[in-house]
Amino acid sequence: MKLFSSVHDVQDIKQLVASALALKASPYAHSDLGKNKTLGLVFMNPSLRTRLSTQKAALNLGMNVMVMNMDKEGWALETQDGVIMNGTTVEHIREAAAVMGEYCDILGLRSFPKLQNRDEDYNEEFFNKFVKFCGVPVVSLESATRHPLQSLADLVTITETWKPIPNPSQREGSSKSLNLAEGETPLPLGEAGRGLPKVVLAWAPHIKPLPQAVPNSFAEWMCKAQAEGMLDFTIAQPEGFELEESFTPGAKISHNLDEAIADADYVYVKNWSSYKEYGKLLDFPEGWMMNNKKLSLTNNAKVMHCLPVRRDLELASEILDGPNSLVIHEAGNRLWAAQAVLKAMLEEL
Ligand code: CP
Repeated sequence: MKLFSSVHDVQDIKQLVASALALKASPYAHSDLGKNKTLGLVFMNPSLRTRLSTQKAALNLGMNVMVMNMDKEGWALETQDGVIMNGTTVEHIREAAAVMGEYCDILGLRSFPKLQNRDEDYNEEFFNKFVKFCGVPVVSLESATRHPLQSLADLVTITETWKPIPNPSQREGSSKSLNLAEGETPLPLGEAGRGLPKVVLAWAPHIKPLPQAVPNSFAEWMCKAQAEGMLDFTIAQPEGFELEESFTPGAKISHNLDEAIADADYVYVKNWSSYKEYGKLLDFPEGWMMNNKKLSLTNNAKVMHCLPVRRDLELASEILDGPNSLVIHEAGNRLWAAQAVLKAMLEEL
């Protein structure tokens, strides 16, 4: 693998998930693979999980790691060509990226969208220029429109925790085969027959306009997983918050949270701002925060969030502190997702 910027860079997502889980079982099985190789992690924006998990993943593979908080420690970068640099920018991305490529065998880059110009963000101008000029393989640590390491970790988490419920044809015609108590009704069966998990991406409230990178990327990976028969995928958001269509092929779309999460096995909570009214903080209706009352509508769903999360604004504390929360498990799996991607890159250096 030479580039990890989206699900489209992955030949076989099932194999990559299996690789992450194998590394989780045996973290140091490839500890010589990265010997004398250097990973450079370049951050234009803050991070906790991505920075630490990717750094640890590289160390587990025997790599050297350098981290540059470019937003705080680097020169102000110019990205446009043909400008006379007589303003605030000091170094052009052409030289900066190329120089980093001289020092590193693989580079990671985090570059959030500015949420001012939709075309500029959705063309991934900064990320693509960095890839073009650095000359070495690049891992996205979250770009303007996608967060693929997060999405891979999310798919790993769902794959690892899902326990299929037998579908009707696999039962023996009586409630006994489901271990139901006398008088207890069988669990409702979704379209997927519960052989597959029902996964719902659920929009949540926020006080700021946030990027669409995490939900775009999650949707893209879940749509791919759905196409490969791994799960059943629904997106719920208020009207006006629809994601750009190319990220959601095959997803069921709902504007009613309660209907969408009925019988869900996984609810992935996340805020995002409007794609249509780009960069604006729109009004939104009441009743979109996941809490225990909403959880009762689900199939005892596991609740996920990429973190950081604003408690009791995006997601109720009673869920975060309760048995259905997967958020820490999910954050832990960021390590194995990053290690699987770096391993695939090292194998092709
Ligand atoms: N989920 C995630 O990417 O966390 P950080 O922003 O802390 O890296």
